[in-house]
Amino acid sequence: MLEFTTSPLPNPTSPEERAAAMASLGFGTLFTDHMVTIRYTEGQGWHDAVLGPRQPIPLDPAAAVLHYAQEIFEGLKAYRMPDGSVASFRPQANAARFNQSATRLAMPHLPEELFVESIRQLVAADAAWVPDADKGSLYLRPFMFASEAFLGVRPAREYIYCVIASPVGGYFKGGKSTVTLWVSHDYVRAVPGGTGAAKCGGNYAASLQPQAQGIAQGCDQVLFLDAVERKWVEELGGMNVMFVFNDGTIVTPPLNGSILPGITRESLSAVAAEAGYTLKEQPYSFDQWQEDAKNGRLKEAFACGTAAVITSIGEVRSTHGNFVIGNGDGGEVARTLREALVGIQLGKRPDTHGWMTTLA
Ligand code: PLP
Ligand code: COI
Repeated sequence: MLEFTTSPLPNPTSPEERAAAMASLGFGTLFTDHMVTIRYTEGQGWHDAVLGPRQPIPLDPAAAVLHYAQEIFEGLKAYRMPDGSVASFRPQANAARFNQSATRLAMPHLPEELFVESIRQLVAADAAWVPDADKGSLYLRPFMFASEAFLGVRPAREYIYCVIASPVGGYFKGGKSTVTLWVSHDYVRAVPGGTGAAKCGGNYAASLQPQAQGIAQGCDQVLFLDAVERKWVEELGGMNVMFVFNDGTIVTPPLNGSILPGITRESLSAVAAEAGYTLKEQPYSFDQWQEDAKNGRLKEAFACGTAAVITSIGEVRSTHGNFVIGNGDGGEVARTLREALVGIQLGKRPDTHGWMTTLA
């Protein structure tokens, strides 16, 4: 594996400054002292792995990412364990998904061990930035973009891979325990054969206008329907979605090529089974959802993902009707699953699946 060159920041943030900055955590506004960069050049492969100070990256104005959006990213968290060590949840799964995204965007693969090592290097340098377990976690953002200066449209021949880290609390403002969704009937996020299953920046750019419409309607997140029939629930702008019925089954839309294969989503299938629930992958239409919410067959719905963890959906709004889920306050199943999942992530419950990797 590539050796890392380490050049720590000569004057890192003092413990006092860090404590003040971390006194109240939001999402993605505060960053640690360091970053990892690794370069790729066609013919040479990956080279120049550096753990250094977090700083701006000089880019040629013709860099392909600035024109054709050849960019992918990942999101995972590092948690403070009861013994003071730091561990992350299924980083190998993020490494594998990163390479699946790379394939779709015609980018080079990063060896999975190098992905995990890059995170280990950054977390070891910035371990003091991992919040206490009751306050939050350290969100890790690995990403890769085309840095070659070339305006012809073809896969670039040079890339930069980078990892930055941000101490975070809850994703939703004010640590909301229930969110309101805006169902977009005007826009779609992804189409069959498109890039929906890849974690590329372009998908998020496409979600911003419908997300802004949702915010204008007093909602927290946008939910997208399928692009072909405009009927089937797919996922939210940045999370997967699950539905809980009065017979104890949990339903989530199947991976159809346009939904992001969430690691939380996949992990919940095991966690739900252990808690006595059956998680089924089944198409679910917006009309049925509205009907089930009104007739009481639907008990709960929740968003799941790294940033959101598990967040109950209280209310749904759209140009085709508004409705409340359950009593609008979230529910028991989401709470039970969240406790079970977070228990494993924080080292408070046994890690029977071998999901945790110690980083520092
Ligand atoms: N769907 C989208 C569009 C996302 O951005 C995310 C977050 O990464 C997820 C789903 C959930 O994925 P994961 O559980 O791997 O964080
Ligand atoms: C994450 O949960 O890691 C995500 O990427 C979602 C974020 C873009 C809101």
